[in-house]
Order: sequence, then C-alpha cells, then structure tokens
Amino acid sequence: MAQTNLMEIIVALAKRRGFIMPTSEIYGGIGSSYDYGPLGIEMKMKIADLWWREIVRKHNNIVGIDSAIIYHPRTWEASGHVEGFVDPLVDCRQCKTRFRADELVEHAKKAKGVDEPPVTADGAHLDPSHPSYVQLPCPNCGNRGTLTPPRSFNLMFKTFIGPVEDNASGVYLRPETAQGIYVDYPQVQTVGRLRPPFGIAQIGKAFRNEITPGNFIFRTREFEQMEMQYFIQPGQEDETMKYWKEERMAFWRDVVGIKAKNLRLHEHTPDELAHYAKSAFDIEYNFPFGWNEFEGIHNRTDYDLRRHQEYSGKDLTFFDDQTRERYLPYIVETSAGLNRGMLAALVDAYDEDEVNGEKRVVLRLDPKAAPYTAAVFPLLKKDGLPEIAKKIVADLKLEFNVFYDETGNIGRRYRRQDEAGTPFCFTVDHQTLEDGTVTIRDRDTLEQPERPKIEQLANVLRDRLHR
Ligand code: GAP
Repeated sequence: MAQTNLMEIIVALAKRRGFIMPTSEIYGGIGSSYDYGPLGIEMKMKIADLWWREIVRKHNNIVGIDSAIIYHPRTWEASGHVEGFVDPLVDCRQCKTRFRADELVEHAKKAKGVDEPPVTADGAHLDPSHPSYVQLPCPNCGNRGTLTPPRSFNLMFKTFIGPVEDNASGVYLRPETAQGIYVDYPQVQTVGRLRPPFGIAQIGKAFRNEITPGNFIFRTREFEQMEMQYFIQPGQEDETMKYWKEERMAFWRDVVGIKAKNLRLHEHTPDELAHYAKSAFDIEYNFPFGWNEFEGIHNRTDYDLRRHQEYSGKDLTFFDDQTRERYLPYIVETSAGLNRGMLAALVDAYDEDEVNGEKRVVLRLDPKAAPYTAAVFPLLKKDGLPEIAKKIVADLKLEFNVFYDETGNIGRRYRRQDEAGTPFCFTVDHQTLEDGTVTIRDRDTLEQPERPKIEQLANVLRDRLHR
C-alpha cells in the first residue's frame, strides 16, 4: 500500500467509523479543526489514561495538576514566548498569500531562473539582503519581486478578558501546558512536601496559531499535550534525560503497542533547539508523510524557574534541609502530543488481509488502546439469545467499553468490529442455553480457542488487558 494512500485511507476510515471528523461540517468546517467521535474519544481517553497511569501512578514522586488555560500574561513574557515563539513569515504583495520562511527556503533551492538561492551562508534561512531575493518567484502566483522581507509572527493566540479590547486586557491561550506547572510549582511542592527529584504532570489543551497546519490531526491549532516536568538537583540532567528517554520510548512501544521499527529517537542539532532547551530528543514515528516528532524530551535547565523568579520577584529556590543547600531546580520535561500519539497508533495498527477470500480491513490496536474492548453478539435474534447478550453487556459495561450488535450476519458483525479495532467478540449461541458458555473470537488470530463461562468474561478481559 502506497504511504500517501495510507493517509487518505486513515482519514476516510476515521470519519466513516466516527473516530475523528472535521468540526462544524454543516457550515463547511474550519481548516484543520477536528472533532473526536464516539470511537475517537474512547481511544484518546484510553491513551491519556495509560499515560497518567505510567507517569503519575507508577512513580511515587510524581503528582498531577490541571491548571487554567489562560494564565497571567506576564507568564508568557517570562517564558520567552512573547519574544521567541515566532515564525518568520513572508507575504506576496501581489496575491496576498503568506508563507513560512522555511518553506520559501526549500522553494528557493528549486526555483528556476534564480541565480543562487537567496539564503544565509549556512543555507538554512531566507536572506532578504541577498541579491537574488528579488528573482524569487511567489510559490502561489509565480510573480517575481513581490515577496516582502520576512517578518516575525507570534504563534500565540491572543484574546481579551472582559468587555474592553485594549492592551491592558490582552491575554494568551496557552501554547504549552508546561508553564502552568512552573507557576504552580511553589504551592504544589509545598503541599506535597516534595523534594527533588520529583515531577508534576498534566494533560490539557494547548493552542498555537500555526501558519501551515496539516496532515490531518498531526498539526492543528488546538491540540492536547501530556506533559511532565521533572524537578532535579543541578548536575543530574544527564542521568535524568537517559531515564526518561528510555521510559518514554518503552511507553509507546510496550504500553500503547506501537511497533518498534516505526519508532526512533532524534537528537536536536543546535539550530533545532527551542529557546528554552539545552539539549532535546524527539521521539519520532514513521508516519506516511515521513519520520516526524510526536514527543519531546527536553533538558530545560533552570531557564524557566530563573525567568519566573525574575519576572515575579518571588523566590523559587528549593532549600534542602538535610544538606542545608539552597538551589534553583533544573527541569527535564517530557512533552507528548496526545493527538499525534493517537495518529501514530492508528496508522501503526492499520492492516488489510483476506478472510474467506474477502478483503478485510483491521485495526490491530493494542487491547488497552482499542475503543471497544469487546463486542457481544447474539447468534440469532430469537430464542432468548439477545436477552442473554444484553445482560452480558450490562454486566461488563461499567468496567469495559463493550458494544452490542445484533444486526446483519455474524461475518459482517465481525468485519465491523475488526475495522473499529475491537480485539474480542463474544457470541451467544444455542450452546449458551445449555452450558452458559459463549464463543470468544480473537481479532488477530481469528481463532475461537475456548468457550468461557459467562461469569468468567470479566476475568478473561482483565487477563487479556494485562498481557
Ligand atoms: N513544552 C514543550 C513543548 O510544548 P513542543 O515540541 O513544542 O514542546 C510538544 O510540543 C508536543 O506537542 C509535540 O511533540 C507534539 O506532539 C505536540 N504538538 C505541538 N504542536 C502541535 C500542533 N500544532 N498540533 C498537534 N500537536 C502538536
């Protein structure tokens, strides 16, 4: 299957089955904004829950918070986002299209009739003072000499608090959840009586006015982050980075079930580093549109706390009463995109095979991440079979997301569940009336190895979820 084709297939499947669909479609949608349907929200919540269990529950020294989305605007001055969270943009005076300078660099290298690409000596950035800048054609309308010099454009969404839209009431929607943790750190540390090393985690929405969103839910203007900030003594960055790099790779591979061959770590080169990071690693997935980051592990040093200390005038140091030392903790951050992680899991799970001579579409999701853990079918719509099947659903439903289906032949019902990624299907048949057992069909092996008793079904599922 061609990789570009795979992306189209995933987008179509996601919409058809109610995983993810364009938002407000009755009005024609709004570019790159998506809603998560009944299957999508189940899967997204499961990945978020797995993350929370892995980070907060598994570590005695990590606690969670849920901070506001709108913070005091000084937060973003201190964090460096007002000044540094910018993309250089170029406008075409003729057709009014706007481009990211890095896109134009790529375009400039290929443009015909340009003596020499108008880029800086290292070839990485667009240089408006370069003599061939005026020869560069607009990628949209093709005119030459119509491009403005690059101008900085801040990616934060600005809005206003209260009825007056003036500078004094201007606030930002957070572009990352991390800052909410830094500004709450003194209180959380005190109430939790936490001593470095300790972590604070949160899952929540972040907003960025991306110039070129795209690739479905990969780059959108609102998205969810799962971030954890680990506060350590200066000097412990290297071992801490090593620990979290391994932990986070293991999470996506062993807990969410993404294939190891499709995951890799990429270390940032100095010009890739964000303004706050001293070193950084990306966890990348082999998406149909190429290897791309979906989680970052960053050594942020004491950059953030130092800046917040300076801007707030509050002492943010930690006093170690055992060693009698006072210091500003360093921070190692793990910052994952929930939507991107989910896209990676969906792409990774997609498969096609043949069953009884017919093509089958199957999402081989790890049972822990699948929207439905099981489906329950009565073989026929008579002889009391539906009532037994419905009772099984009612008994399992609070602990597991299970789906009841009595429509169509049994083969079609299996196919529908395969496409939704449901790992197990239980069928109530006439033998159930005799001995209280049901068939259990495995999505991946297609086998029906045993007939568990109805009372054992919860244990069967628990057992398979923990394998
Ligand atoms: N606190 C650090 C931070 O925000 P980042 O690399 O800018 O670091 C972390 O973002 C993660 O957030 C990314 O790896 C990605 O998964 C997700 N993310 C960032 N921008 C996104 C966007 N526009 N759409 C979807 N996910 C995004």
